[in-house]
Parts: sequence; C-alpha cells; structure tokens
Amino acid sequence: MMSEPIESALRTLDIGIFAPISAQLTDADKRSLLAIQQSLREQYAGYTYLEIGSHLGGSLQPHVLDSRCATAISIDARPVSVADDRVDSVPYPRNSTEHMLTLLREVAGDRVNKIVTFDADAAAVDPAALPSVPHLCLIDGEHTEGAALSDFSFCKKVVRRKGGVVAFHDGNIIFPALDRIVRELRAEGEQIRAYVLPSTLFVIEFGEARVHQSEAIRELLLNNGEPYLYGLMSMLHYRDVYSSRPMQFMRRIWHMINPSPRPWRP
Ligand SMILES: C[S@@+](CC[C@H](N)C(=O)[O-])C[C@H]1O[C@@H](n2cnc3c(N)ncnc32)[C@H](O)[C@@H]1O
Repeated sequence: MMSEPIESALRTLDIGIFAPISAQLTDADKRSLLAIQQSLREQYAGYTYLEIGSHLGGSLQPHVLDSRCATAISIDARPVSVADDRVDSVPYPRNSTEHMLTLLREVAGDRVNKIVTFDADAAAVDPAALPSVPHLCLIDGEHTEGAALSDFSFCKKVVRRKGGVVAFHDGNIIFPALDRIVRELRAEGEQIRAYVLPSTLFVIEFGEARVHQSEAIRELLLNNGEPYLYGLMSMLHYRDVYSSRPMQFMRRIWHMINPSPRPWRP
C-alpha cells in the first residue's frame, strides 16, 4: 500500500505539513505536536482529535490530513478579541468557522467532512453531543487561568480516561492553572504523567497512555532543558520590569493595597 505524505511527515517530524495554513505555533511546538500525533496513530487506528481554539485551522490540518484520524472536533467560541493573562486582549479579525473550513478544504479536500465544529465556549458544549470519545485534546483557546481551568474541566469529562492525552499550548502563560490541575489530579489519586515538550506544550497523559514511550517523545524529553528555559525566558521581561527602580516604588504601594499576594508554596 502507498504511504501518504502525512505518514512520512510524521515519521520525520517534517513541519512542512503545517505550511498551507498559518498556525500560531513555533517550529518546536509543531514538531512536538507531530511527535504526539505519530505516537497516538501508532496506538489507535481510528483516533479522535479534539481541540479548543482552532482559529484558521493551522493546528487542525495534520489531523485532518491523517487517514488514521477518524474524527476531528473543533471547539472555538470565535470572539473578535481574546482575553490573555499577559495583556488585555488579542484581536482575532476574520475569525470564523466558515473561513477555517474553506482553508482546510483547499488543503484536505473531502477529508474536512470528518470535522465536527462547535462555535461555543467548551463549557457550553454538552459532552453527549460529541460524536466520539477523544484520544487527544489540545487546549489552545483563551489564554487565561480561568479559561484554562474551565477548558480542562471539559476535557477531563470527555477524554478517553483509560489512555487519553490532554495537551495545553502556551503552558508558560497559563501555568498557575496547570499547577492547580496537576495538584488536584494527584490529590484525586488519578493515574497521570505530566511533562513539558518544546516550546510550550504541557502534556497530561491519563491511565494507560504511553505517548512518552514513543521514540520521538523520549528524545524530546531527554532534552527537556529547552522548554524549561523557553518558559522562564518568556517571563524575563516581567521580572525585569518588576525589579526596575520605578517599579520598586510602585510595588510598595501595591503591597499596601494588596497585603496578601497569592502565596506560592513548593
Ligand atoms: C491561539 S488561537 C488558536 C490557534 C490555533 N490552535 C493554531 O495553532 O493556529 C486561539 C483561538 O481560541 C479561540 N477562543 C477564544 N476564546 C475562546 C473560548 N472561550 N472558547 C473556545 N475558543 C476560544 C479564538 O477564537 C481563537 O481562534
């Protein structure tokens, strides 16, 4: 049987497969996502992929092209601007499902028929309305702590708990939510593995999921200094501003108004 272009792209982690539709991902993010997909398709012949936050369909395209992906679910509330914990909000012009599907059809033809879309916040989606149980959920919607917690709570309800995976993009932005999620899952006695992949992917494997054992992921995990440094360096600006002279004065006032800032305990 002839192998599909997507198969060789996945085997070699060739990020050229993302070229047709622009994705809001670094090259390293793309490689990590391909490595997760490769591992998943080795395990499951007809897997279901769900993502929260699709924009133009950039992160959706490798799954739509993949014949081993039986169903691709896209949940996107399609606001014109998106709240973000680093800034006030980020504008999203021409943000529509129709536009996304037009772009994906140019890339994948009839394979777009496997896409099921919900123009809503995940919290408003009835889990029973999903066509199948997702093996992999990617959370890349609103980049705030509250939204990440809410999106995860939805994914936890719907993901294949026996061996599913939930991955967050931009873990360096929504990390307070990740800290809480991991602590709560451990306290609940949930069998999980949590790790980071370059550049900013935070991955939670449930139950029997064995993505971490695939060769491509093991290689990335061995070099996990890269995502660690990426995350810290992305915060450098905030640390520099926080410790600057004018801010030292502002901080004294801030601490008078907010006497108990959120404590962090190791
Ligand atoms: C960072 S973009 C997604 C990028 C896409 N995953 C990619 O790699 O190209 C964020 C998307 O989240 C969507 N979004 C914003 N708030 C949302 C919410 N509350 N629920 C679901 N999606 C939301 C936006 O419409 C936008 O399309």
